[in-house]
Parts: sequence; C-alpha cells; structure tokens
Amino acid sequence: MKKILFVASECVPFIKTGGLADVVGSLPKYVNKEEFDVRVMIPNYQAIPAKFKEQMKYKTHFYMNLAWRTQYVGILEMEYDGVTFYFIDNEFYFAGDLPYGEIYQDIEKFAFFSKAALSALPAIDFRPDIIHCHDWQTGLIPVMLHDAFQNNGFYHGIKTIMTIHNLKFQGVWDKKTIMDITGLPAYYFTPDKLEAYGDANYLKGGIVYADMVTTVSNTYADEIKTPFYGEGLDGLMNARSNCLRGIVNGLDYDEWNPETDKYIYNNYNAVNFRKEKVKNKKELQKELGLEVNEKIFTVGIVSRLTDQKGLDLVDYVIEEICAPDMQFIVLGTGTPKYENLFRHYEWKYKSRVSANIYYNNERSHRIYAGCDAYLMPSLFEPCGLSQLMSLRYGTVPIVRETGGLKDTVEPYNQYENTGTGFSFRNYNAHEMLNAIRYAKDVYYNRRREWNKIVDRGMAKDFSWRNSAGQYEDLYRYM
Ligand code: ADP
Ligand code: GLC
Repeated sequence: MKKILFVASECVPFIKTGGLADVVGSLPKYVNKEEFDVRVMIPNYQAIPAKFKEQMKYKTHFYMNLAWRTQYVGILEMEYDGVTFYFIDNEFYFAGDLPYGEIYQDIEKFAFFSKAALSALPAIDFRPDIIHCHDWQTGLIPVMLHDAFQNNGFYHGIKTIMTIHNLKFQGVWDKKTIMDITGLPAYYFTPDKLEAYGDANYLKGGIVYADMVTTVSNTYADEIKTPFYGEGLDGLMNARSNCLRGIVNGLDYDEWNPETDKYIYNNYNAVNFRKEKVKNKKELQKELGLEVNEKIFTVGIVSRLTDQKGLDLVDYVIEEICAPDMQFIVLGTGTPKYENLFRHYEWKYKSRVSANIYYNNERSHRIYAGCDAYLMPSLFEPCGLSQLMSLRYGTVPIVRETGGLKDTVEPYNQYENTGTGFSFRNYNAHEMLNAIRYAKDVYYNRRREWNKIVDRGMAKDFSWRNSAGQYEDLYRYM
C-alpha cells in the first residue's frame, strides 16, 4: 500500500478561506483506499471550531529547532470521514481568528509548520512514500527534505509533489530574514533555487525541489508558462514543464448535492428542477429582504472579493448590472473597495441588491441553489469551484474564459444546442455585460432553451471520480 501525506494550510471541515480547503478536505476521501493510505496534516489553529477540537486526541509532542529558536511541536490526531488527520499544535504560531495574518508573520508560521510536518513523521510512525504539498505555505517542505533531513535514513527516498492552487501567492520575504528564520544555508538562496528577484520565495523553492509539480486545471498549467499569468515564475514553469501536470479539481458530490443538501429550503434534482428549484429562489429572496418575485432574473456571486475575481469589471458596469429587471446577490469578504461597492449598491437598490459581507457556508449553499445564474468574471482562475457548485445546482455560470473556468464551462451555442453556461473572452467590462445580457435574454425570452442549458450543466460530472483517478496515476507513476 502506497502511503501519501497531504500537507496544507487549510482543510474542510476544520478551517477554510477558499477552494484550497475544499480540495484538501475532499480529494483524500475519493482516492482508492485499497491501494493508497492518504492522510492529511494541517495546523491546529485556535480558530478550528471547538466541536472538532473535542474530538482530537493528543498523540505526542517534542521540541524542535528552527534556526536559533527552539519551539514546541504538539501532534493531535483525529479520524474524520474515514481519513486520518494530524494537527500540528503550537499556540504561539496558530493563534488568532484566521489562519493567515500579516505576511511577515505567516512567513515564520509556515516555516515552522513545514519543518514540524517533516519532523513529526517518525513520532507518528508514518513514513509516506509521497508528501503532497499544497501552495506556498508548504513550499519549504521539498527544500528542507532535500537539506538536513537527508542525514536521517528515515527520510531517504520520500518523494514530493507540489500542487499550485494559486501562483499569485508565493510567500516572498527578504533573503536575510528567511535565512534567519529557516536556518537554511546560503547555498539555497541563489536564483536557480529559492531566490527570485532578490528576495526569497517559498513557492519557488517548492517548485524547484519537488519531484512533480501539478496545478488545478489544464488551461492554467499552460497559462502559467506565459508572462501574463506566470507571476514572475513563467520561466521556471517552462523549465519544469516536463514535470508539470494540470489536473482539474473535483467537487465533493456528497457535500454539494441539491437532492440531499440540508442547508437549502427545498431539495431538487436534475429531473424536477423546473418546478422545485424556484422555491429556493423565493425563500432566498425572503431571507435576504429582496422583493419576492419568482420571475426576476437573479444572479449570484459567492467569493473572496479580490482583484483575481474580476470585480473591477463588475465595478465598472455595476449600474447596468443592477438594472430593474435583475436581482444581484453577493456573499463575500475581501478588499474594502469591493466590500463597500456592494454595500453601497445594496443601500441604493434595496429591493434587488443584497450584499452579504461576511463568510457563511450555509448561506452559500442557498445562494447556489436559489439563483438563476452565477457570475465569475475572473482575471485568472486556477480552477474555481464556485462554477462547479453552480453547475451542480442548476445555476447557469457566466464566466470569463480563463483557467479552470474555460475547462469546465462550455459556452452556450444557440445554433447547435450545446453548452452549459455563458462566457466571454477578453478582460473587458462590456464583454462581460454582453454575456450577462445575453443570458438574461435567453432566460426571459427562451425559457425552454434556458432549461436545456441547466439540463446539460446538471448532467456534467465534476465529482472527484475522474480527477482522483488522475492523482492515483501520478502516485503510481512516482
Ligand atoms: P478561491 O479558492 O480562489 O477562493 P474557488 O472557487 O476555488 O475560489 O473556491 C471558493 C470557495 O470558497 C467556494 O467553496 C465558495 O463557495 C467559498 N466561499 C468564498 N467566499 C465565501 C463566503 N463569503 N461564504 C461562504 N463561502 C465562501
Ligand atoms: C485557489 C484558486 C482556485 C482553485 C482553488 C482550489 O484558491 O484561486 O481557482 O479552485 O485554489 O484548487
């Protein structure tokens, strides 16, 4: 049996800020258990809800050197949904309401976490064949594994995968501080290793030292080899392209299922959505204080409110988006500029705009179920899970053709009767607006066509069935 250890900074259901948590929390469940023993390691954040903390069992603890510091490493363990989870405990590093804080703090926090994850393995008596690292927070693992850990035979032959969920975030800080924090020798801080543009870069270290590199869609795997999407690392992505694969994310179809979802008002499926889905819309309108009107075209967004998500396009034409023949529902937090934009428009058009500026998983389910369409005009999108949730809930995605959005949403073609959503190509507010208006027109004037788009979207399979198989192939190959 091959042993795989996932190491990541967030994981559903314990702690989540975005899609990374969904992937780390669901993929291990869907990897073939006869062949692979997949376990997951995350920090024991103070912010993990008490109901989970109560179920964690103390395993062991030790003290670890991190350069000149000596730090406590506790290890807690818990079985959840058939998967073993380990939690690295340290009250100093993992305090606070959120997993992330100021970058200079996070730099030290995740250097500690990465080294602790490696150091913990003998103590938990689990020697993985492969350590599967996710995003910059774990980028130092392949580097450290290559360094001092090689003096210990326990670590010989452990392979690593670096999965890039978002190339934008790299974990960058000045070299001198990072040398001081990590204790890694100067050897590693050259432009062919950790150094990038004069600073030190965790993700770059991970990409350089990992045996295989993956990212979360095919299109994004190609895009990041170009300067526009490469975030300064396109040269490196090209250099490592032989070891780079794109594997599109799946969705946890048990968690996201309109037929069984306990957070939504009225369950429905691909057969009865024509009658049953709209009940969710009316109840959602009531819940949010919007005009209750089952006929009006309702568009939702559930997202981190950042530039990545294309919100400056929304900003540019927001008056048109908030037209009287539409309702617009936003759930999200992020840049104050966008939070305030949506608050303002809710104030201005109270009966048809709803701004929910906070994080709320249960309400997100009701928005996916209750809206007619879902807007995701991202500037870039490594994969995107929100559009997959929308498709599953019969809510038609309107997206920009980039990254995973391009790979998962097939544009509607009215002549051939194909397609699962609406899309536009250029990063241009009026192209987006045209796509929204086109969708609105089909919704109001060609409802049978609209319903067929929904039919096709709901029939798509974006469960982990396919993609988990691709990870299994990769594990076998390694
Ligand atoms: P990203 O990982 O870039 O944020 P994804 O589309 O991959 O984008 O995943 C975002 C996930 O976070 C989805 O599950 C989405 O529903 C969820 N989400 C984002 N913001 C909120 C929020 N304010 N409340 C509840 N869920 C949210
Ligand atoms: C990142 C990306 C998102 C992707 C998610 C999970 O947060 O922004 O596109 O779906 O990771 O892989």
